Amino acid sequence: MAGPMLSVEVRTALEKLDQRDLLAHFDALPKAPRSRLKAELEGLDWGQIEQVRKLLLAAPSAAEAARLEPAPSKKKGAVSDDDARAKRRGLELLEAGRVAVFVVAGGQGSRLGYEGPKGCFPASPVVGRTLFEIFAAKIRALRERHATPLPWYVMTSAGNHAQTVAYFEEKEFFGLPKEDVSLFPQDMLPAMSPEGRILLAAEDRLFLSPNGHGGALWALRTSGALEDMRARGVEEIFYFQVDNPLVAMADPVFVGHHALEHAQMSVKVVAKRSADEKVGVVGRIDGRFGVIEYSDLSPEDLEARDESGQLRFRDGNIAVHMLRRDFVESITEGGLSLPFHLARKKIQAFDPESKTSCALDGVKFETFVFDAMGRADRCVVLEVDRDREFAPIKNAEGEDSPESSQRAQTELFASWLEAAGVAVPRDAGGRANCLLDIDPAWADSLDALRDRLSQQSRLDIPAGGECILP
Ligand code: UTP
Repeated sequence: MAGPMLSVEVRTALEKLDQRDLLAHFDALPKAPRSRLKAELEGLDWGQIEQVRKLLLAAPSAAEAARLEPAPSKKKGAVSDDDARAKRRGLELLEAGRVAVFVVAGGQGSRLGYEGPKGCFPASPVVGRTLFEIFAAKIRALRERHATPLPWYVMTSAGNHAQTVAYFEEKEFFGLPKEDVSLFPQDMLPAMSPEGRILLAAEDRLFLSPNGHGGALWALRTSGALEDMRARGVEEIFYFQVDNPLVAMADPVFVGHHALEHAQMSVKVVAKRSADEKVGVVGRIDGRFGVIEYSDLSPEDLEARDESGQLRFRDGNIAVHMLRRDFVESITEGGLSLPFHLARKKIQAFDPESKTSCALDGVKFETFVFDAMGRADRCVVLEVDRDREFAPIKNAEGEDSPESSQRAQTELFASWLEAAGVAVPRDAGGRANCLLDIDPAWADSLDALRDRLSQQSRLDIPAGGECILP
């Protein structure tokens, strides 16, 4: 049948990877669906696909139990001289234009169930500022205060790239210079059957998913972002996730601790709320830095306490990192060199033989950015206050939901207002009895709020009411 031909490289890759069924299906397709499938196949990184297929088909080896230990960490606020020194260094780097910020927003956000890129989700308590608006406002505040260009890199994925770009354009880049904002998609990988057959979602579409947040490091290289950073003189990258409106953007104390210790990659953590909080903890795995999954700790280790009575493994990972640009360059030298993790699940796939869609056993492949810590010889683990810096929106309700995040945002704003001398109504349980929203471009910290309020007349917040600042 006449129709567009596959490039020789992709046809050879498919043959090499034993995908004869897919090739036969492709060759039998009419022209229009064939061109759509061709475009998808030719947009993939076949090196990565070969790698994951090999991993999938490898005979399971009896893995030796890894040696798991806590890693040394420091607590922000514990030693004020240390923090002050770090802050000075962080500010020097910011003011010299050595720092960039990088948000990963390529995930599918399936737990939240929001139609559209998660960054467009209205996250702030009263105004409903979206996550991207909140981040942009924080970036604007820093740019103005420290006269820093603070370029912003945004990683998307095929499923949300066009919508994200359209949103940034519609909002005119939130008042940021367009040349200081870059958006680029990460790579996608096809799901496979347990036997290594590439799965289709429809006759003209593969079943694709983003290659995990670890793909961010590779995408920095392939998109040209690393080169752009180098040209701008950026040395340090502040990495964060799209779902946390409380992120302390380019926190100078964190930037400074990381730089003063000559760390290649650093991480922020929060103390676990309880032994059974299901969060990965930062620690050492066979001597190397890494994140120990909840399920990899024995019941004894989960409960173990140190001399001070605190949980021995307590440093919950909040996925806020500092990465040296040259570290990212070196670990992506020969490709995306992070280990792939397999997720086995039922997949609604298109069967080319019966031409119907059915639930099949499938395998998806992901990389995790925190695995890069295993490649760093030096890493600062900085414990921060959860109430001040971490209120993610992951689920539609309950824990880590829009509601819990908005409550945490209100509580943080309430604590700032009270510290600045404003009365905040509270209920009998001590919770702020109101909803508060502060534009981060106006005041992104207690200090900034104090400055602003000294210029403003009295502020009355009614019990049960709402207050928007400014
Ligand atoms: P999550 O682990 O929360 O995954 O991502 P998710 O896909 O967003 O959400 P669920 O699990 O489907 O509900 C943590 C962060 O990593 C980014 C997400 O956008 C989020 O900022 N991420 C995740 C990527 O950028 N790419 C990926 O492939 C996966």
